[in-house]
Amino acid sequence: MDPQQLESIEVDLLLEAIYRRYGHDFRNYARASIERRVRQFHAQSGCATLSDMLPRLLHDEAFFADFVTRFSIPVTELFRDPQVYLALRNEVMPVLRTFPFLRIWHAGCASGEEVYSLAILLDEAGLLARSTLFATDFNDTALERARAGIYSAADMGEASRAYQRAGGARSLADYYHADAQHIVMKRRLRERVTFANHNLVTDGVFTEAHLVLCRNVLIYFNQALQDRVLGLFRDTLVRGGYLCLGTRENLRFSAVDSSFEVVDAACRLYKRLA
Ligand SMILES: C[S@@+](CC[C@H](N)C(=O)[O-])C[C@H]1O[C@@H](n2cnc3c(N)ncnc32)[C@H](O)[C@@H]1O
Repeated sequence: MDPQQLESIEVDLLLEAIYRRYGHDFRNYARASIERRVRQFHAQSGCATLSDMLPRLLHDEAFFADFVTRFSIPVTELFRDPQVYLALRNEVMPVLRTFPFLRIWHAGCASGEEVYSLAILLDEAGLLARSTLFATDFNDTALERARAGIYSAADMGEASRAYQRAGGARSLADYYHADAQHIVMKRRLRERVTFANHNLVTDGVFTEAHLVLCRNVLIYFNQALQDRVLGLFRDTLVRGGYLCLGTRENLRFSAVDSSFEVVDAACRLYKRLA
């Protein structure tokens, strides 16, 4: 058997074992990315073959926890893709204003920068006081960081430029307290957000929402899993509610395409049809 086929069998066995032992289901993550990450983890595991990792994954919870973090990739930043926040500001906020209260779900929020960026937009639209933001991820370490809202002061120059490109007219520094090394997002932003562990693969609808943001998460899933998760978002959204995906993600060819209209194709902004 060629080594690639053998590796594929070993990866299947590892993913199946993890699912049955821990309930974490990576079986429908995009295959190339999964295989790359398993290989990287194996290279520094000290195990001779991929299969040799199986008993350790089953019996050593710390080994498993380390393994799982490889699949999380909690990379994010404040006002990532500023043009998307500009579109949210100009095209979505005016419509959200017509609802008496707002529920917003950030699925796959990582360390929370996306959530605070949106909270700032809501504040500037005069909508923060009537908004509840729910921010979820399956990575508890990332959620802890998100809850604390503490980030590196060194990143604030770039973040400030992104905020301005997103149509921000104030100073980003109005939204945080700073010392030499760190910034902490102001309490009035943090207190609008509820952070919770939620797994998009195995958990159900999270809340009824007027806006769902799930950016740069679906790229890690295969089409079947993307369809499942997009179905979750369709069922979560009120009619006329909005969905915002990452700039490399798309509703086209998905099972829920006909339930949405395109609001801004480049920014991957969609509206749930009535
Ligand atoms: C690249 S980050 C995206 C962060 C942010 N949305 C952004 O675009 O900047 C991807 C996040 O998706 C989360 N994620 C991956 N699979 C998930 C799942 N099954 N359920 C919940 N979150 C998941 C990861 O833990 C990670 O924090």
